[in-house]
Amino acid sequence: MAETYSLAEATMKVIQDRRSIREWTEEPVSEEDIAMILEAGRQAPSGENAQPWRFIIVKDPATRKKLAALAGGGSGRRFTAEYVTHQMQERFATLQDEAKKKAAFEKLTSGQVSAFSENAPLTLMVCGKKDVWDMPYDTSAAIENMLLMITALGLGACWVIALCIDIRDEERTKELLGMPEGFKAISLISIGHPTRPHRQRPRIPINQLVFSEKWGEPYYKENV
Ligand SMILES: Cc1cc2nc3c(=O)[nH]c(=O)nc-3n(C[C@H](O)[C@H](O)[C@H](O)COP(=O)(O)O)c2cc1C
Repeated sequence: MAETYSLAEATMKVIQDRRSIREWTEEPVSEEDIAMILEAGRQAPSGENAQPWRFIIVKDPATRKKLAALAGGGSGRRFTAEYVTHQMQERFATLQDEAKKKAAFEKLTSGQVSAFSENAPLTLMVCGKKDVWDMPYDTSAAIENMLLMITALGLGACWVIALCIDIRDEERTKELLGMPEGFKAISLISIGHPTRPHRQRPRIPINQLVFSEKWGEPYYKENV
């Protein structure tokens, strides 16, 4: 029998079920699903209701491959920078197994991380109008709305900023997609049907996140 949820419970379930999916089947995303995802993005809040987002649907495999290669290169350089500045070693400080740590470092700096987006049947490029004050926040709100709708539809997606971190990659992305001046490439979302269920990534306990009245005094004495 199908489970029934209140609207609040259903909303929380979608929020908690959303996770970054990086492996997809070859099944295409239907036009009905694409329309639902885009409507979710379009309904996002934006400062002064500026709605500075524009979306490009990329299905062409050759273009997806080029975008994925830019993303792979971008992550490789970012993680290499984290390695040479020892941020990565700090992040993995609790991992005792030296072999596993080495493998993780090698994978992260390889230039292959984020290249997975090539395998998603659909790439949704999010662009932002540069002269809008709150554009980074506005576009992020639109992306999260879309990620939640993607989850609700039983699809899986990953938010990929890697090809927009370095200005040179961003310029290549803009050129590839024919984006006009005045717009910035913000991130892409790789979307498809997940191959398997994914585990939830860890979250900071709520009692470490929330303070009472002023910074410092925890609102919750223990994790709830
Ligand atoms: C602003 C932003 C940028 C991200 N960019 C990338 C990316 O370039 N490549 C990638 O593999 N994941 C990217 N992610 C996904 C995060 O790695 C992921 O959200 C995080 O590890 C938590 O896992 P979860 O989404 O499964 O909860 C990005 C997420 C956000 C919010």
